[in-house]
Amino acid sequence: MAEVFHIKGLGGEKKLSGQLPVYGAKNAALKILAAAPLFADELRITNVPDILDIRSLTTLLDSQGIATSRPSPREIVCSPAKTLNSVLDTEISKRLRASIVLTGPLLARTGKVSFPHPGGCVIGERSIDMFLEAYEKMGATVTHERGAYIISAPKGLSGADLFFHVPSVTGTETIMMTAVYADGITRIYNAAMEPEIAHLAEFLNACGARIKGAGTSTIEISGTTDLLRTDGASYTTPPDRIETGSFLILAALAGDQLTVTGVNPDEVRSLLSVFEILSIPFVVEGDRITVSGSAPEISQKRLVVKTAGYPGFPTDLQAPLVVLLTQTRGEALVFETIFEGRLAYTEELERMGADVVLMDPHRVLVKGPKPLRGRDLESPDLRAGLAFLLAATIAKGDSVLHNVENIDRGYERIEDRLANVGLSISRETLGT
Ligand code: EPU
Repeated sequence: MAEVFHIKGLGGEKKLSGQLPVYGAKNAALKILAAAPLFADELRITNVPDILDIRSLTTLLDSQGIATSRPSPREIVCSPAKTLNSVLDTEISKRLRASIVLTGPLLARTGKVSFPHPGGCVIGERSIDMFLEAYEKMGATVTHERGAYIISAPKGLSGADLFFHVPSVTGTETIMMTAVYADGITRIYNAAMEPEIAHLAEFLNACGARIKGAGTSTIEISGTTDLLRTDGASYTTPPDRIETGSFLILAALAGDQLTVTGVNPDEVRSLLSVFEILSIPFVVEGDRITVSGSAPEISQKRLVVKTAGYPGFPTDLQAPLVVLLTQTRGEALVFETIFEGRLAYTEELERMGADVVLMDPHRVLVKGPKPLRGRDLESPDLRAGLAFLLAATIAKGDSVLHNVENIDRGYERIEDRLANVGLSISRETLGT
């Protein structure tokens, strides 16, 4: 049954206060789960957020022959597989981008894998050409039949020198894990540098992998023939830097002293530097950041923010940032460089009263401040959905946000956490 959020907008008042704890990173937990086929013993993952994308991936792992269990709400244990099924479930793979990451470890372990084009948020073309090219260069054959990619390497994979024409996050993670079991050395040039990649490599290395340079643009992996072993160690999911950024933006928009807790401040530097430009006061104390309510302002003629790979401004915070800019005095140009379909949501902000002009599919001009009006909203994808939640929070009047499963994919029970800091929000099932 379809669920919606009912949100009573604050109408420009800054009322939210208290503490907002950040949970484990979706895009880190998904990748260590996808690494499960590489392990000879039990893999225990802690601080896992209880979100839909994680549930989809554990269901997928179960159907590949890796039994997963949840001894406690934020803990997942993957049992070592006796036999691995290398045909990915079509229905789950089509709704989850991270399913592509599992193809690497499965191919490395079994010498074959087949899967449909992966799904996930509809934010652009989301090609997988670099994955396929890398598999071929590592010695596999790639065919496409009846809607499925079939990758085959009956004699195993060999190390290769690979240059990524775009620094893909999932591409880097997948090929790094595949190379752990390839014969010889693999080098990935122009690799993505997101912190989740270094975190993953660190754990794999502690379990027997030999990966150098993860977190930089060149990664070197020396293959091994032994399966990895945790020997009882567990992977602790780091705090979600995108959730951190989303909550900080909420605090800037609607907070009267809101503290975001359990964060890694180093990983949100690009956002904090924008806060400095907008004169938004914040205090960093250890793993907590407190933001005080303010009237943000751009002092220069025009602010330009371009999304980029880490440590640049993350594309996943682009939509929440645009909402903040609608409430900021001055003019800003936001340039989405990573995905070509990630600004469509701005039309809805315009209907709410924002002054946003889509210059082309990659650039939006925002002039503020403009008060927003509450509306019926459809969450188009995870991050734009969160941006609508922010817009509804500050709007005058009530909003109903549909398609909340898009938000549930990446944010655990967000309504409970926002209600705790003073927002009037409830989850309702339509037709009841
Ligand atoms: N690309 C190619 N060929 C490929 C792979 C990617 O051309 O083979 C292009 C993409 O089309 C895109 C660019 O490379 O234009 C970068 O995409 P990337 O591959 O880095 O994105 P991703 O790995 O599919 C991950 C996150 C996204 C996040 C991006 C960018 C996961 C599961 N997803 O996606 O997260 O936006 O990196 O940081 O890790 C989200 O959490 O809401 C989300 C969409």
